[in-house]
Amino acid sequence: MKAVETIPYTLYKGTFIDTPELGELRIRFNCLVGVNQQGVIDFIKEQDQITAKYDWKQYTGRYKHEKEREADIQMFLDNHGRENYFNYIKIEDNKFIFPGFIDTHIHSSQYPNVGIGLNIQLLDWLKIYTFPLENSFKMDNLQLVNDIYTKIIKKTLGCGTTCASYFTTIDNETSKIFGDLLLSFGQRGFVGKVCMNHNDDYPEYQQEEKHCVEDIKHLKQYFDSKNPDNEDLVKPIITPRFAPVCSRSLLTKLGKLSQDEKLPIQTHISENKGEIDLVKKLFPECSNYANVYDNHNLLQESTILAHAIHLSKEECKLIKEKNCSISHCPTSNTFIASGEAPVKKYLYHDKINVSLGTDISGGWDPSILSIIRQSILVSHHLSMKSGNNFDKLSLNDGLFMSTQGGAIAVGLQETIGTFDIGKRFDSQVIDLQTGNLDLFHWQLVNDDDNNDDKKLKMLNLLNKWVFCGDDRNCSSVFVNGRKVVSK
Ligand code: GUN
Ligand code: FE
Repeated sequence: MKAVETIPYTLYKGTFIDTPELGELRIRFNCLVGVNQQGVIDFIKEQDQITAKYDWKQYTGRYKHEKEREADIQMFLDNHGRENYFNYIKIEDNKFIFPGFIDTHIHSSQYPNVGIGLNIQLLDWLKIYTFPLENSFKMDNLQLVNDIYTKIIKKTLGCGTTCASYFTTIDNETSKIFGDLLLSFGQRGFVGKVCMNHNDDYPEYQQEEKHCVEDIKHLKQYFDSKNPDNEDLVKPIITPRFAPVCSRSLLTKLGKLSQDEKLPIQTHISENKGEIDLVKKLFPECSNYANVYDNHNLLQESTILAHAIHLSKEECKLIKEKNCSISHCPTSNTFIASGEAPVKKYLYHDKINVSLGTDISGGWDPSILSIIRQSILVSHHLSMKSGNNFDKLSLNDGLFMSTQGGAIAVGLQETIGTFDIGKRFDSQVIDLQTGNLDLFHWQLVNDDDNNDDKKLKMLNLLNKWVFCGDDRNCSSVFVNGRKVVSK
């Protein structure tokens, strides 16, 4: 089991890139980062502080690397104090370390359906493809359950996703198994046992309200007993599927449970016009879709609202007031033709936190790198339609949403999302000289470049990574300081 492996103190040396604030890209070349036995970053020294002391130009070849290593270790010991034993890992030039991606909306149970259901609208899509598959997740079908859950965790980890907020299914026992698998592969994750009690095709779901609160409390105790000491790697998240399949009393119970147990919440909102009409019909006493959730105390700082495509002005105001986050799922929104969410407006005008979701299997692509790309392309379409350049998302916006924006959405902004002292080391090493990318010598960063040239080259390389790269460029992945993927 990955999640219980011990973590040796490790010094990482190389280029660290992250996005501490929306729109801001931080590139630190030749940066030395120490990760302690708890997986927490407790030492950072940047290039300027290092080059001031050592002149690398006088060294060449292998000797240079040995000298550099020696000097780094000396620098560490002088500044940090002694560690009995530690690793030193040098990330070579034209590789860089980026925070692990955070997927804030993904249905692990729906993985077999990726790519299927093109152009069927949401409510029919759920009936035809989704509910029958999800309903097969039962303890008497363990082989299938294990196979699907194992494959989706391995796939997303290999794409650099170190943390995800998952929807499983209504079945609690197999949701526990999903949590076990997260721990065994070492991915940080939120397990959302799906809560719903209105579904004409599945009358047995009407029983849900009787036991869902106990089920979620049980999940919490179960994961608490399985998590490594001092690490909340796996946690339950309260998951009313969406308003049309939940009764008022179920929603009320879940809102109360979130407050009693201090658990986060995830759901869908305003994805599809037919869905919005249905919500109006089912909840005539509520002024809008967001108000349905608010009336049941489900709009909290820890609430993730997936899709949020067709929100009214009042809904945006309410969501901001309550400090909820949106999970933007551009691939899914395109695939099942739900619409284009005005994300730039949400971020910069409404000041709502927006993160990214693959929404497997409304979306076909498990890679958050692809979702960054899709989010930018969808925003270009919006901009072409509106004639307003403002609507275009930048690369930095996309990188922020995929990491620190995601960390805020899952309530872990002090724990993951960037490389800062005190944060857990969830990261991916990106190798640009492999996979599908053809790079040319003048595009590569080298020692003789001045800092401005290096940054300019790195910006172009980041663009190449996002638009031309894929999971082959993700050469290793760390969660809480443990190496969980090595290619
Ligand atoms: N709305 C309610 N359930 C679902 C689901 O499984 N996928 C998507 N995309 N939207 C939903
Ligand atoms: Fe979804």
